[in-house]
Amino acid sequence: MEEFNTKKKQTVRKRSPKLLIDILPTLVFCLLFVLHINQIITFLFLSDKQTLHITVKAKHGETDTCAGRYIYIHNLPSRFNDDLIKNCEAYAELRNKCKYLVNSGFGPKILEDDHNHTTRVLTTETGSWYSTNQFMLEVIFREKMRHYECLTNDSSRSSAVFVPFYAGFDVRRFWGYSVKLRDQLGEDLAQWLRERPEWSKMYGRDHFFVTGRVGRDFRRVSDQDSDWGNKLMRLPEFENMTMLSIETNCWSNEFAVPYPTYFHPERRIEVKRWQRKVRKMERRYLFSFVGAPRPEMEESIRGEIIRQCLASQGKCKFLNCETLSKDCGDPVKVMEVFQDSVFCLQPPGDTPTRRSTFDSILAGCIPVFFNPDSVYSQYKWYFPKDHTKYSVYVPEEDVKNGKVIIEKLLVEISKERILSMRNEVEKIIPMIIYTKPGAVGPDKIEDAFEIAVSKVLERVSLFQDNATDRSSYYII
Ligand SMILES: *[C@@H]1O[C@H](CO)[C@@H](O)[C@H](O)[C@H]1NC(C)=O
Ligand SMILES: *[C@@H]1O[C@H](CO)[C@@H](O)[C@H](O)[C@H]1NC(C)=O
Ligand SMILES: *[C@@H]1O[C@H](CO)[C@@H](O)[C@H](O)[C@H]1NC(C)=O
Ligand SMILES: *[C@@H]1O[C@H](CO)[C@@H](O)[C@H](O)[C@H]1NC(C)=O
Repeated sequence: MEEFNTKKKQTVRKRSPKLLIDILPTLVFCLLFVLHINQIITFLFLSDKQTLHITVKAKHGETDTCAGRYIYIHNLPSRFNDDLIKNCEAYAELRNKCKYLVNSGFGPKILEDDHNHTTRVLTTETGSWYSTNQFMLEVIFREKMRHYECLTNDSSRSSAVFVPFYAGFDVRRFWGYSVKLRDQLGEDLAQWLRERPEWSKMYGRDHFFVTGRVGRDFRRVSDQDSDWGNKLMRLPEFENMTMLSIETNCWSNEFAVPYPTYFHPERRIEVKRWQRKVRKMERRYLFSFVGAPRPEMEESIRGEIIRQCLASQGKCKFLNCETLSKDCGDPVKVMEVFQDSVFCLQPPGDTPTRRSTFDSILAGCIPVFFNPDSVYSQYKWYFPKDHTKYSVYVPEEDVKNGKVIIEKLLVEISKERILSMRNEVEKIIPMIIYTKPGAVGPDKIEDAFEIAVSKVLERVSLFQDNATDRSSYYII
């Protein structure tokens, strides 16, 4: 996370054991096996006609493509969402974000310019590029959820319950105010949810919500006014729910999903065209860094990274986000640098993750990470398990104590390895973007949203599995 007006230093808490994640594949496999055991048996022993008969009977005559995927959206009072953004201008801390709320949180459209420069960098002919702010995910996700293909108004049929709460806007508007004020709306929502009939079905285990801020903003450790954030995720109701955020540091009921990028296409062909473009790109720079130094953070390696970049005699491009030129806030300038670079350096900022990581991947630039919490431990739903396939890892320590000269390390990577890494990066692109809401049929893209929703459903089904007598699944 990059927030230049945030001077407060924060410490990253250590990860809790990732037990659930470790056993998840096994559980899913067992569940699938059990659910399909009748098909497997009929496949092995029965004729087609009999198979058909048994399968249909097993499904009670229904062929519902949404079965197991229905989601119910809670109709929250507007104080939990719409009012927060309607009054955006009223909160000093939100004011500079208000203009990004348009177009369902995608922000203002990026228009073609007179010199066709924008068009050359972004291919805007389809109008799928926006000045998207990094903290808008809760607004974007809610709009995508409204267009989800398997919605139901009948909560008794739903497999999961979506809670469209703008938790990030809530916490941000009261930066620096008393803890009482910061906690109020979350406590109000907890009570509201607990009193709904949907709550008693699984006591919130099937409920989920999304925030466009980092998880630590919702896990204040004490009730001192000087402490960071609110205590939303420490409320008993929220401890039972699943939270998706752009960065997590608690691996029990929080999961990280990609920061939004500037690209929000509607059709599959646009993504294909974009992938082809970044594959063919001539890249002038070996590596680049887009960011600002962190002189107030003693442990930050950014100063050293910038020093090495500037010393590279043209092999490295540095786009300085500290200057008043505002180049960093210009999506065209940022995307142009990433498209022009083979490797993109992604050192931690105020927190280990960066929105920039996703922009650079979108541009087909191979990321260089310095901290495993920047991506590897975070976005497990989205990236290949073997991180050497798509990225370069340089331990922060090695940069700090001068053991590694980044340029020297990168220049030695073979052409074949670069091509194969870029190929992997290209494959990740569709998975980390948030496409325009509403695409159906063959144009639907398995984007960051679709992946998140299916993972949440998978997770809830494991709780359901636990709640039911397991032995019943074995009766065919
Ligand atoms: C921009 O592109 C359009 C069509 O592609 C062309 O007609 C126009 O002359 C170009 N403008 C400039 C300034 O190059
Ligand atoms: C749910 O109800 C609302 C209002 O009655 C209606 O507009 C909407 O289409 C319904 N949605 C579904 C998925 O049935
Ligand atoms: C959370 O879930 C547990 C069981 O899974 C339940 O005992 C507890 O009451 C729930 N908490 C709330 C606040 O509903
Ligand atoms: C299901 O129950 C098992 C055994 O009690 C437990 O280890 C596992 O974590 C539970 N799964 C979930 C999703 O809670």
